[in-house]
Amino acid sequence: MASSTLSPITPSQLCSSKSGIYAPSQALLVKPIKHGHAMGKGRKMKVSCMATSVPADDRVPDMGKRELMNWLLLGAISLPTGFMLVPYAGFFVPPSGGGSGGGTIAKDALGNDILASEWLKTHGPGDRTLSQGLKGDPTYLVVENDRTLATYGINAVCTHLGCVVPFNTAENKFICPCHGSQYNNQGRVVRGPAPLSLALAHADVDPETNKVVFVPWVETDFRTGEAPWWA
Ligand code: FES
Repeated sequence: MASSTLSPITPSQLCSSKSGIYAPSQALLVKPIKHGHAMGKGRKMKVSCMATSVPADDRVPDMGKRELMNWLLLGAISLPTGFMLVPYAGFFVPPSGGGSGGGTIAKDALGNDILASEWLKTHGPGDRTLSQGLKGDPTYLVVENDRTLATYGINAVCTHLGCVVPFNTAENKFICPCHGSQYNNQGRVVRGPAPLSLALAHADVDPETNKVVFVPWVETDFRTGEAPWWA
């Protein structure tokens, strides 16, 4: 008994109307086969093909709609892109520090702004404690013997090869652990191999906020009477 087979029918075979435009979503309307009704040999499937007769020009959106779609597409792309670019661009803007006159607010070891009055409650006369200074450099805040904050901070970066120099309270001087350079308690070099004194920065107190603000030191170095080598 010969078996009856149906070869697949493609939409193009079904809808080949020359006068209409092929619409995939509407092209095939195949009359369903009744359940249990076998298709015998030579039996044809009833197929209706709906090809729209709307002229092609009417199916293209007019210029106004296309422009609107373009603007919507542009907005959809540029909005998230802008949100991504803003923080990226901000990465290249140097932090101002928020200090007055372009200075940098001193920060403690935890990254908090240093308040002068609070600092002096916990740091006694002669104290030299590191804070975060200009450009993030470790910078000593100095407490004078009269329990006031010195108007200068001392950059802790050794002028020999850049080690951070600790303050030796017993010796009352800065002694570099790397190659033994020594600086007096104001940061003036007293023993090599370091060739220069430690750099200075102004340590001002903002009268409104009470915050300590570092400002670049560009005047004569009061320890040597010379022009500042770091300016
Ligand atoms: S880095 Fe300080 S003495 Fe060499």
